[in-house]
Amino acid sequence: MGGMAIELRTPAMDELGEAVSVLREWQQDTVMQLHPGDVGWFWRAGTEATAAAIRIWKRAGEVLAVGLLDGPRLLRMTIAPGAWRDEELARRLVADVVEPNRGVLPQGKACLEAPMGALIQELLPEHGWSAGEPWTPLHRDLAGPVKDPGLRIELVGPELARVRAVLQRASFDGSPFSDEHWHAMACGLPYADARCLVGYDDEGDAVATVTVWSAGPGRPGLLEPMGVHREHRGRGHGKAISIAAAAALKEFGSSSAMVCTPSTNTGAVATYRSAGFVRFPEVRDLCRDVRS
Ligand SMILES: CC(C)(COP(=O)(O)OP(=O)(O)OC[C@H]1O[C@@H](n2cnc3c(N)ncnc32)[C@H](O)[C@@H]1OP(=O)(O)O)[C@@H](O)C(=O)NCCC(=O)NCCS
Repeated sequence: MGGMAIELRTPAMDELGEAVSVLREWQQDTVMQLHPGDVGWFWRAGTEATAAAIRIWKRAGEVLAVGLLDGPRLLRMTIAPGAWRDEELARRLVADVVEPNRGVLPQGKACLEAPMGALIQELLPEHGWSAGEPWTPLHRDLAGPVKDPGLRIELVGPELARVRAVLQRASFDGSPFSDEHWHAMACGLPYADARCLVGYDDEGDAVATVTVWSAGPGRPGLLEPMGVHREHRGRGHGKAISIAAAAALKEFGSSSAMVCTPSTNTGAVATYRSAGFVRFPEVRDLCRDVRS
C-alpha cells in the first residue's frame, strides 16, 4: 500500500457503477454517510450531470473514497470503512478539498460532509474550516414488524410521475422538481433498488410522498426525500408515509431505515420520531468562509 499513488478521478460510465456499488457495500447501520440513494436522488439531473458530480479516490485500483458535489460548493464524501484513519488518504483528501483548481471545490465558501470519526474531520480545522449547521440523523431498526401506515399507498411508476412531481413541489418550497426529473432519476443506476411512494387520503387526494433507497439486504436504506403537501399537513400523513417508507425498505431486506434532516427542521424530526425512528448524535459539515 505505502508508496502507491492515490489518484483522483471523475468517473467514466463504468466507474460510475463502481462508485454506486462501493457506496452500497460501505453502508453500516450505525453510521450516517453518503448513501447510494443520495446519488440516486441527484440523478434527477441526468446521467451526465451525475457522472460529472462524482469524485473517486483510488489507490492501486481500489476505491478509497467517493464524493458527490451536491451543488458546486458542497462535497458530500464517504470513505472505505478500513480507510477512515488512513493518514496518506486523509492528507490527500485535505489537499484536494482545500486547494482550488484540483477540480473538487472552488475558492471561497465551501462545505464538506464526511463521516464523523474519519481523520479528515480532525485535519480540516487546521486549515481554518469550522463546523456548519447541525443535522440530525434518525434511524429505525427493521428487525421487527412495521405496522400498517393507515394511508392508501401507491407505488409510483411512469404513469404517476406527474403526481409525484406535483407533490414534491407542494412539499418543498422552491422545488423545481418536474416529471422529467422523475424519469431521469428512474433511469439512474441506484433506482433499481428504490421505490417512490405516494399516499392518498380518504378523499382520494395525493397528500404525501417519499422515495426510499435500498443499499442491499442487511444494510441500511435511506429516505430521500419525504414530504407532505402544504395544504394537508398536521393530519398524521407525514408519520404515515414515513411508516410506509420503513415497510418498503423492509421488503427490500434492509436492516434499518435512515434519514438525515437539519436539526432546525423540528417538524421533520418530530415526524420521524412519531414513525418510530430514533435520533442519533447530531452531525455537522465542515465549512470554509461561513461568515464572509
Ligand atoms: C415535516 C412534514 C413532513 C410533517 O408532515 P405532517 O403531515 O404535518 O406531519 P404529521 O401530521 O404526520 O405529524 C407527525 C408528528 O410530528 C409533529 N409535527 C409535525 N410538524 C411539526 C412542526 N412543524 N412542529 C412540531 N411538531 C410537528 C406532529 O405534532 C406529530 O406529532 P405526534 O405524532 O407526537 O402527534 C411536513 O411539514 C413537510 O412536508 N415539510 C416540508 C418537507 C420536509 O421538511 N421534509 C422532511 C425533510 S427530510
